[in-house]
Amino acid sequence: MDLMEFQAKELFAKHGVKTTLGVVVTTPEEARDAAERIGPCVVKAQVKAGGRGKAGGVKLAKTPEEAFEHAGNILGMEIKGLRVNRVLVTPATPPVEEYYFSFLLDRANRQYLCIASVEGGVEIEEVAKTNPDAVKQIPVDPGTGVDADKARAIVAEAAFPAELADQAVAMVQALWAVFVEEDATLVEVNPLARLEGDVLEALDGKVSLDANAEFRHADRAAFEVTEETDPLEAEAKAKGLNYVKLDGQVGIIGNGAGLVMSTLDVVAYAGERHGGVKPANFLDIGGGANAQVMADGLDVILGDQQVKAVFVNVFGGITSCDEVANGIKGALEILGDQATKPLVVRLDGNNVEKGRAILDELNHPLVTQVDTMDGAADKAAELAGA
Ligand SMILES: Nc1ncnc2c1ncn2[C@@H]1O[C@H](COP(=O)(O)OP(=O)(O)O)[C@@H](O)[C@H]1O
Ligand SMILES: [Mg+2]
Repeated sequence: MDLMEFQAKELFAKHGVKTTLGVVVTTPEEARDAAERIGPCVVKAQVKAGGRGKAGGVKLAKTPEEAFEHAGNILGMEIKGLRVNRVLVTPATPPVEEYYFSFLLDRANRQYLCIASVEGGVEIEEVAKTNPDAVKQIPVDPGTGVDADKARAIVAEAAFPAELADQAVAMVQALWAVFVEEDATLVEVNPLARLEGDVLEALDGKVSLDANAEFRHADRAAFEVTEETDPLEAEAKAKGLNYVKLDGQVGIIGNGAGLVMSTLDVVAYAGERHGGVKPANFLDIGGGANAQVMADGLDVILGDQQVKAVFVNVFGGITSCDEVANGIKGALEILGDQATKPLVVRLDGNNVEKGRAILDELNHPLVTQVDTMDGAADKAAELAGA
């Protein structure tokens, strides 16, 4: 789960990271009221995307009237396709210098990584291109983590100014506490700002929480901002489905995460031959591919306006192909007229002959069977591209 800036800052404050919380509001009037109490302030769009400043979503307001005006402009605007429904009103504290700091999970190397740079404020990817030496990448051993010594080594390597070193060390340790204790996969501060009077403060915050650790954090539900969640993903979650919406035209249903991932790949390749169509989603129906699970899955996928065809790719194991075929049959009965898009079905594995026979006999106008994964991907891409 990705958090918005104001939520990230709540976690920062909880673990002793120096930051200012400000006030979150949803109307220009409330922004004006907040500015009356705060004084000169910054009005900041709260969306789960970076680059808000560049997009005009971060504005300085010297007076409450200006805060009212900026909030009126920012609320309702779209940043990277996301609608702004709330703004953060927070004291204006112009940075003297802007640094970059993050902890993240480095999957490829099975460790954590700290990225730090004294060239912060702007997009770090840009700095990494134009001035790679300024972006320090410091591995963190998951076994030992970040203690005071490691924090000092990070600060030295990042070359934060000597007069800020002690504050930076405390900051690094507190951010590490956020990272570990909140089970985050990313904790990013950009800018980590040097304010007037040589005070170091997190002016922005980005945190991604590991969904696998949700059971350890009862308080996390409070971070769910329901209207910000993709409606299809919300529906899938309510149905207990493992679904991720993507930006494409071929709906995908498979059993087992590995098979579904490779299905996305073959569909993407096949799509290149059919006008560039792409997979529309990830959906793993797991072991129990009964009629209800299949119907739930199809229902979510068919609810995606972008989807033009669906590829059901199942390798029968413990759940045999005849059970899956009956699941598809049952799902089509449950959905009735709501099933409107072509289904390409590829069955293989346990009881494949029986499974294929069930679908042959069903002879449903929307269902096409193809025996191989590549062939089925090609057919699904062709139907979606037409
Ligand atoms: N409270 C603040 N006071 C003064 N300037 C700020 C404040 N918060 C952010 N800024 C400035 O606005 C820029 C963009 O804000 P930021 O929160 O980093 O949003 P984003 O990264 O999405 O563009 C910062 O780099 C900083 O220069
Ligand atoms: Mg930023």
